[in-house]
Amino acid sequence: MKVSVAGTGYVGLVTAVCLAENGNTVTCVDINEEKVKLLNSGVSPIYEPQLEELMWKNRDRIRYVNDYQEAYSHADVIIIAVGTPERKDGSANLQYINEVAQQIAKTIIRDCVVVIKSTVPVGTNDKIEKLIKENLKYEVEIDVVSNPEFLAQGSAIRDTLEATRIVIGVESENAEKVMKEVYKNFNIPYVVTDRKSAEMIKYAANDFLALKLSYINEIANLCEIVGANIEDVSKGMGMDSRIGDKFLNAGIGYGGSCFPKDTKALHWLANYNDYELKTIKATIEVNENQKIKLIKKARKYFDSFNGLTVAILGLTFKPGTDDLREAPSLTNIPILLEDGAKINAWDPVGIENFKKVYPNEVSYSSSIEEAITNADICFIFTEWSEIKDFEIEKYSKLMKKPLIIDGRNCYRVKDAENAGLIYESIGRKTTEKELLKI
Ligand code: UGA
Repeated sequence: MKVSVAGTGYVGLVTAVCLAENGNTVTCVDINEEKVKLLNSGVSPIYEPQLEELMWKNRDRIRYVNDYQEAYSHADVIIIAVGTPERKDGSANLQYINEVAQQIAKTIIRDCVVVIKSTVPVGTNDKIEKLIKENLKYEVEIDVVSNPEFLAQGSAIRDTLEATRIVIGVESENAEKVMKEVYKNFNIPYVVTDRKSAEMIKYAANDFLALKLSYINEIANLCEIVGANIEDVSKGMGMDSRIGDKFLNAGIGYGGSCFPKDTKALHWLANYNDYELKTIKATIEVNENQKIKLIKKARKYFDSFNGLTVAILGLTFKPGTDDLREAPSLTNIPILLEDGAKINAWDPVGIENFKKVYPNEVSYSSSIEEAITNADICFIFTEWSEIKDFEIEKYSKLMKKPLIIDGRNCYRVKDAENAGLIYESIGRKTTEKELLKI
């Protein structure tokens, strides 16, 4: 099939490459000229494992253009994968989708299926179909299909090629037939439903995962108070297949481009329809508090961070990505800076992006050793394997005082104890040394 993809962000580019890998001919269109140049030179603008290899392998079946007319006019299928950022009130901003819909209406000269892959509020597919139909320049037939994605950053290619399901929300038999043709080589089960249900599946799935995380984070907080161990609790819960063992790692709250935005958007949608989603409201509230939990823990030791050297390990919202959106580092570092701390930050791939926000206020280190040398305190925000594998004894050797506040439970409490650290983590007991204070 001749497929065009609007938007070359995480979702658009990964989808395009995976569709090409499975035999479709794909044209990617993006308004950003620099990005298209980069893509045409074989370089991915985002860090994502396997992506560049697959771009190269499928280079004969995939091209990148700026001109939307060229991309849309003859396509069998046009996939919209542009962003739906959060507005100030929590609702989803559909400006970019609307723009693409207008461009499609102006340019298509043959019947085609328009697929909305971006996460959109329930009812958006109906509105987009109306918008395109009302603005069509030529006499052609279109079907609009909701086809949400379930890829996570860092494992996006695998999540797409080996997805657990392909959700297709259609209102016509033709649309279903065309979508099954696009995905015919994927060998993944389909959920075929109406458009509104497909739109809801995406939000309900993401918000359920966010709910699971806020739940386990609250249980972790209670574990700390009553002296239980969250890791054993998660293990004991996760072995029940009705609960499942995924997304039970307690930490400093969820971040990224999806959960924070999608929880707020669904909550907003419910409110707009005079219904309060109490579970999602609580999910959001718990997460906001969890994000500043490490600072609260650190304040037990220091009233102020003024004049202290603070090591930060991990800037991205999770390992395997250079994405900083809603990362705990972005919530916590401003608080530390405002207090007058001197920050030494390390991250294996996130520094370049972080420099765009803090070019001068933060010192960047090229190794963990460099970041922690002479530090008064060290915060761990991302569970990179380099941090987990770091020789734990080095904290005592290199830091002024070996005070580690770990938001990702990277080390065993026993090991931290043996290495002489003052070690605080999430939902577990603190090291004996903590009682002595510093
Ligand atoms: C998420 C979903 O997992 C994907 O299925 C979905 O397609 C995607 O959003 C989207 O809507 O586009 P993503 O945001 O890339 O993917 O990352 P996740 O791996 O889900 O992690 C989200 C956050 O939860 C991270 O901050 C991570 O640190 C946190 N998390 C995850 C935990 O704190 N504990 C866990 O056990 C798992």
